[in-house]
Amino acid sequence: MTLDTSCRGTWQDGHMSISADSIMFDLWSASYDRPGLQQTTYRPVHDAILERISGLDPAVVVDLGCGTGQLTRRLVDAFPSATIVGADLSAGMLERALAAETDAGQPLVANYTRANAERLPLAEASADIVVCTESFHWYDDQPAALAGLHRIIRPGGRLLIASVAALTGLGEDALRQTSSLAGRPIRAVPKRKMKRMIEDAGFEVTDQGRILRLGFVPWPVLTEAVRH
Ligand SMILES: C[S@@+](CC[C@H](N)C(=O)[O-])C[C@H]1O[C@@H](n2cnc3c(N)ncnc32)[C@H](O)[C@@H]1O
Repeated sequence: MTLDTSCRGTWQDGHMSISADSIMFDLWSASYDRPGLQQTTYRPVHDAILERISGLDPAVVVDLGCGTGQLTRRLVDAFPSATIVGADLSAGMLERALAAETDAGQPLVANYTRANAERLPLAEASADIVVCTESFHWYDDQPAALAGLHRIIRPGGRLLIASVAALTGLGEDALRQTSSLAGRPIRAVPKRKMKRMIEDAGFEVTDQGRILRLGFVPWPVLTEAVRH
């Protein structure tokens, strides 16, 4: 399926018959927008992303794993003439993203699509920039997600992933095992492994660094890359 990005303010259902996979996120969506959590944990990550892409002039920006649209709405403000697409697995998160735009009394401006990052319903070379904050570590098949991102980003387009990253492979394994016991594995790929994985998918990594914040540790790593 190809998302029609000419139509704003909509929520399309990618091609999903999602159920169990998104339940945790559907439940989490009810408390996700708490101001304390947003200010200490997610806002610093969004600030870092916006700072890195300011000054660019994209036609299409995709916010992958957009959650309740906290960053998506800021992308709309930052790039008023661009088409902004928020994609997420969770209907609960997307409902809140749409409601937030309506509650603010704004005309709906972003497109939202319910989709699995590993099978994105977007056309080849259709995106100038993809941002992905605090979402990549939840993906079961990260190389498949990167292959899909390589497909949808145009040559020369940008990819920015800010993701929880363990310091070592041992830390990654430990976190994956403990989070599996809690119901869903977190794949907190260390910085160097992340670089390798992104380069193997056909990108050139241009920068990597930790984002400091008061909220959850380990601090996420922001990896910036350009699609070959
Ligand atoms: C911690 S939230 C981050 C939301 C948002 N990016 C932010 O920075 O506030 C993680 C999001 O990733 C989404 N997600 C997890 N696995 C996904 C997948 N395979 N495909 C698409 N979205 C996914 C969840 O539904 C959730 O909304």
